This record gives sequence, C-alpha cells and structure tokens, in this order.
Amino acid sequence: PSMQNISGRSQLEADLQQSLHISRVIVTSGDSDGQPWVKKEMSRACVSEMIQTLRTDDVVAVAGGTTLATLAESVSPHPNLQHVTFVPARGGLGENVDLQSNTICAALARSANAQYRLLHVPDQLSDLAYESLTQEPGIQELLNLIRSPRMVIHSVGDAHTMATRRNADEKKLERLKTCNAVAESFGYYFDGNGNVVQKEKTVGLQLDDLGEGQKVITMAGGASKAEAIIAYMTYRPSDLLITDEGAAEAIKASI
Ligand code: F6P
Repeated sequence: PSMQNISGRSQLEADLQQSLHISRVIVTSGDSDGQPWVKKEMSRACVSEMIQTLRTDDVVAVAGGTTLATLAESVSPHPNLQHVTFVPARGGLGENVDLQSNTICAALARSANAQYRLLHVPDQLSDLAYESLTQEPGIQELLNLIRSPRMVIHSVGDAHTMATRRNADEKKLERLKTCNAVAESFGYYFDGNGNVVQKEKTVGLQLDDLGEGQKVITMAGGASKAEAIIAYMTYRPSDLLITDEGAAEAIKASI
C-alpha cells in the first residue's frame, strides 16, 4: 500500500473506529507483513499508552507472538511501569518458547525494570492432572491475578497461520476449515462472524474474564491479518486497536 500522510492515517483511524465499533484506533505507517520495523512503530504507540495508563500495583496480562515480542524489546524503564506486575495471559499454546507469553512477560518486565510472575503449567496435561494442578493454592493465586488484570495486551492472528505455527495435524486443520475459523487470539479460534468455534486447552485468562475493569489493547498489523482483526473485533471490540496502514486499508476495503 502507498504510504499515507498523517491526515490520511487519521482518516483511516476514524473509519475503523466507526466500522469496527472500537473506542480508539491508532494506525501506524507501513505494513508489518513485509516490513519488520512496522511492529516497532506499533510497539512505540503501545508503550506510550502503557505509560499514560498504568500506575503502581497494576497487573498487566500479556499474550505471546512476534508482535508482543517486539513490544518487549521496545519498552524501557519508566517510573510509571516500575511497580507494575506483568503476568502471562495464558499458559503454553504449543508455540516455540521464544513466542510463549511466559517468555515475553519476563522479557517485557526486565526491559521495563518492572515486576513479573510466571505461570508454570505444561502444555499437554491429562484432564485429571489439569484439574489438580489448577487447584494448587500458588497456581490459584496467580490465576486470580491473570484473570482480573488492569490491562491486557494481545495480538490476533490468522487462524490457519496460528494453527500451523503450533504444529496442528491435518485433522485439526481440517476441523478449523470446516468451522470457518479465520482468527485466533488467546488460544480461541473465531469464525468470520466473531463466534468462538474452537478453543485450545490451557489455563489462564478466559475470554469471559474480559470486562469493564480491563483495558484491552489489541496490537495487530499486516494486510494478511485484516480478516482476523475484523472477526475478533466483531466478537468483542477492544478499548484500543493499534494497527498499521496495510491492515487498516485491507479492513476498510472489505467492510
Ligand atoms: O500464540 C500467541 C498469540 O498471541 C496468538 O494468540 C496470536 O494469534 C498470535 O500470537 C499473534 O502472533 P504474531 O504477533 O506473531 O502475529
């Protein structure tokens, strides 16, 4: 897409706010699909939002993925972040360790010189082990923090891309296709109408936990994520969407 000037991007922001019913949208220049520096731009916008919003003792739940990994690299110490506690939004989702929310949570807190807690729950658990582990007082206490944070920062991915990245087998890919899954976030898969159609088994934040008390920031860019962003925002419009021109123009063209 062409590089828009600032007023072009403000127009895109207004268009997306209206069509996706999101309180606030920030559109950075470029397209993160082919331009890695664009995730840094989106991260800078997110860091300034964190600094403006967060205060002592606030808890922030962060998801995994390459976008959030860039956020972790982009933050630096600030008095408003020092007494904030970062927690992972969900346990493992079958991802490479570098992209797991635990890893990103620790990296983010270290770059910000802030506090963090990690969730040590293995990915593949029997129902029985899962039940008893989540009854452990230490895990319960952490889950309570994770499930009612002040702020949630996450990304949204294309369903097929995410399932493949998590090494889903043919059967699973077929099932996702059959139920028209187009988007994924927090381990949930959504169809084009914003309905949850599948869920990965993992502990942590549940979509139902998201309410008025949480400021939800969605960071997702790249034209290839347009459909996924629309689907997720149809499920639940976030308080702030930070995206890029590539995604914003593709979203505008398809709604
Ligand atoms: O797997 C964690 C996760 O946050 C997913 O929920 C999301 O779809 C994905 O990462 C986004 O990854 P990326 O930022 O690499 O596109």
